[in-house]
Amino acid sequence: MNLNGFYQVDYSKSDFPEVKIGTLGYGFMGQIHSNAFIKIPFSFSNPISRPVLLAICGRNQKKVEHIARRFGYKEYCLDWQLLAKDPRIDIFDNCAPDDWHYLPSILAMEKGKHVICEKPLSLKLDEAFQMAKKAQEVGVKTMCCYNYRFLPAVQLARQLIEQGTLGIIYQFRAKYLQQAGHNPFELVEKVWYAHGTQSGTLMGIGSHIIDMAYFLVGEITAVCGLKKTYNQIRKDSLGKDHPISADECTIAILEFKNGAVGTIESSGVSTGRKNYQGWEINGSKGSIFFDLEDLNHLQVYSTDINSPEIQGFSNVLVTDAEHPLQIKYLPSGHNQGWEYGHVHALHHFLDCVVNDKPVGPLGASFQDGYRVQVVIEAINQSSAKGKRVEIKDVGEDI
Ligand SMILES: NC(=O)c1ccc[n+]([C@@H]2O[C@H](COP(=O)([O-])OP(=O)(O)OC[C@H]3O[C@@H](n4cnc5c(N)ncnc54)[C@H](O)[C@@H]3O)[C@@H](O)[C@H]2O)c1
Repeated sequence: MNLNGFYQVDYSKSDFPEVKIGTLGYGFMGQIHSNAFIKIPFSFSNPISRPVLLAICGRNQKKVEHIARRFGYKEYCLDWQLLAKDPRIDIFDNCAPDDWHYLPSILAMEKGKHVICEKPLSLKLDEAFQMAKKAQEVGVKTMCCYNYRFLPAVQLARQLIEQGTLGIIYQFRAKYLQQAGHNPFELVEKVWYAHGTQSGTLMGIGSHIIDMAYFLVGEITAVCGLKKTYNQIRKDSLGKDHPISADECTIAILEFKNGAVGTIESSGVSTGRKNYQGWEINGSKGSIFFDLEDLNHLQVYSTDINSPEIQGFSNVLVTDAEHPLQIKYLPSGHNQGWEYGHVHALHHFLDCVVNDKPVGPLGASFQDGYRVQVVIEAINQSSAKGKRVEIKDVGEDI
């Protein structure tokens, strides 16, 4: 105690260990992940660890320093190899664009770091395979950041399916719709799926609902896909024409190992849609419906309700202590926001690292990330050939 009656906080006596984080990329996801790490110690009354934001890496010194200061990083650097090799770092968090997932993640794993990598695991199937294989060889923890698994409503959906509340699962029906490219005259720089790596909507947002299909319904064994690019030339801000090959919408039929069937639709030309991810699952005893823009609710229909006059979908607010993934300081009815998917996902990963737990089945490991890429590749092939494509069990590869 000092003379004024204040006690110094002794952080060396902390009952939750420090885990040192190195973040690659300071853009949208770099900031969302940093925010999530910062929120962890006060979102959970017994947090697994106190993440320490050690260093962040980007190419523009002025901008990366600004973000480092905003989020409280101790250091920053301009060379991703420095970050991936740094022996002080426990978790390498790859928030770089899709085409920079492979090399930095491989190097970080080789240097013995646990690695989080944003989705999709890679733009190239072979690279995704190498990443999943390296993770197995080296034995570090890995997570491909399919953050929507970590929303309370999604985990409740999985619980209901696992405990048989829906009965036999017949159908999965998912859409992920945005409007970035609906205007043919929109500049290419403003159309995320057509700009830069031209990752397209299937990779960019379709990957999320393929992972959701896998997380909730199970292994996908065959697909029929149709990809479409409406605006094959777009101008940039200097007036130069850019040829576009990225899909602006993809529709696919899925067949699951357990006999269920499904459809998925990704679109960047759904005029009026901001970030609509909606899916419905129908089973022999019930159905569920989820809308990401209303993420604190899960709509549930159960045939167990015997009074026909009140049978219908219940709009369940998933904020009670009985629901999964509750934030202790938020009482019932106090909603979580979109960014909490990442808070829960990263907290889960810290738990896996600190307590040596498996990332799956709740989190998506690099093997799960690879699984999604296999389905994407099958949809690409199906669309190109105009034929149904079967998918062999990924477990045989890695
Ligand atoms: N899970 C989600 O909900 C979600 C949402 C959006 C994006 N993403 C994914 O997150 C990743 C990043 O997307 P974003 O929207 O944050 O992109 P962004 O363009 O906003 O940020 C990318 C960052 O990477 C940095 N970078 C790029 N190349 C680099 C290099 N060679 N060395 C160092 N830094 C480099 C850039 O400077 C920038 O800071 C992508 O893979 C994307 O698909 C995921």
